[in-house]
Amino acid sequence: MRKRAFSGIQPSGGIHLGNYLGALKNWVALQAGYECLYCIVDLHAITVKQEREVLRQNILATAMLCLACGIDPEKSILFVQSDVHEHSELAWILNCHATMGELRRMTQYKDKAKRLEGAAAEGGASVGLFSYPVLMASDILLYGAHAVPVGEDQKQHLELCRDLARRFNGMYGEIFVIPEPVIPENGARIMGLDDPVQKMSKSASSEYNYVNLMDEPSLILKKFKAAATDSGKEIRYNEKEKPGVSNLMNILSVTTGESFRVMEKRYDGKGYAQFKTDVAEAVIEKLKPIQREYRVWESHPEEVVRMLQEGAEKAREISRETLRRVKEKVGLGGAP
Ligand code: AQP
Repeated sequence: MRKRAFSGIQPSGGIHLGNYLGALKNWVALQAGYECLYCIVDLHAITVKQEREVLRQNILATAMLCLACGIDPEKSILFVQSDVHEHSELAWILNCHATMGELRRMTQYKDKAKRLEGAAAEGGASVGLFSYPVLMASDILLYGAHAVPVGEDQKQHLELCRDLARRFNGMYGEIFVIPEPVIPENGARIMGLDDPVQKMSKSASSEYNYVNLMDEPSLILKKFKAAATDSGKEIRYNEKEKPGVSNLMNILSVTTGESFRVMEKRYDGKGYAQFKTDVAEAVIEKLKPIQREYRVWESHPEEVVRMLQEGAEKAREISRETLRRVKEKVGLGGAP
């Protein structure tokens, strides 16, 4: 039997270049050797406030983007998290085995909670946001995934998932597979264009922070031209001294395959302007086929909905059995 891979993406408004280079590119690559399950994690999205109609549209648009990026429904199971209730059910059981202390240490929670506490209108962080990593662990463990393709920001969450799986197996016997993260060597952490010391993020306050996969070429060029660079004129890779230039070099390198050394030689003596335009053009070229494919899917929404329903059916077949075994081991349920 082939090993399984699992990963998820939030339908929280488009997919950006960081999501693509850090995670989705690997989702596509893993289809060659794994049985893959990819999930639109709408239950994760509601850990922060969402508008009903916007969320609905984003779920479908995110699925279309996954397909446009190369997720092949013949090879992978693509589905929406809330269509498979086993995710929430296992999350509750795992919540009862995770500690407040280990969840409090999660840096993503600390960062997001801090931002929400600042925004009085949001009313502070939800309990769901706090236990987000436990739901993520459930997503992965339900399918016995061996490989989890994610960006570097998810490393800590995945470590917690591994700890919970080991703890559970230690208490009840071997149930869960201990998953391994699949993090790309380059592109695992794409930084914000306007703020290259923070990761590129959908929830950034300015749209000049990220490149959305569906951005028009003219907007992509504008965003790269406006990208923060560093003092001096040199195109040289040094994350500490030159975070802005290094981020752009990283993006160019992952997009074209060119090494930093070759790039440094090629741009020797040239300024930032040409370099930024070249990075923008490389990204525009890279995104062209994805944008084309997206438009094809966009004109067949009913096809995508059907595919997601089929995906949920297949996912349920696997997750139902895992949950049954978990409940049995824990001693839950009325039937012996
Ligand atoms: N900047 C990034 N560089 C590389 N990988 C990234 N990922 C996210 N940002 C970067 C990876 O993308 C996958 C899907 O992420 P997500 O949508 O589930 O959630 P996220 O990490 O919270 O994405 P955002 O854009 O940063 O959203 P907000 O602003 O809501 O926090 C994951 O594998 C992630 O590692």
